[in-house]
Amino acid sequence: MKIAIAADHGGFELKSRMIKYYEKQGLVLTDLGTYSQDSVDYPDIAAAMAKNILDGAADLGILICGTGIGISIAANRHKGIRAAILYSDDAARLAREHNNANIAVFGGRTMTFEEAVRRFDIFLSAKYEGGRHDRRLCKLDID
Ligand code: RB5
Repeated sequence: MKIAIAADHGGFELKSRMIKYYEKQGLVLTDLGTYSQDSVDYPDIAAAMAKNILDGAADLGILICGTGIGISIAANRHKGIRAAILYSDDAARLAREHNNANIAVFGGRTMTFEEAVRRFDIFLSAKYEGGRHDRRLCKLDID
């Protein structure tokens, strides 16, 4: 499973901590930036992640901005992207089981590191249920 991670300046610190944490667990996350605390625009970060996933370079992504809101709105403008803010442990599981989310989103200023890694672990271990959800996912992309 190839996993990429990216953040704007509001998520830079959480991104750095998550990369180090998962590296120690034996899971290398591909870092798509940003690479400093300097201010950047979250739509650019979301676009880099969307391209990475849609090109098949990564299977799943993690996106982080200050609240998780702007970067998820931006990511979800890309056809084929299903980015979900993991605002609770249940949401982390359901984002995979029901929505087949391909990007997990966190708020660097609204969530703790512990919440983020716990929820991402739940997200990773959950499986898409298919069935009735296929019909709904087919209706997501509007031309
Ligand atoms: C950047 O200051 C901030 O607006 C951004 O990280 C995010 O929270 C937007 O939704």
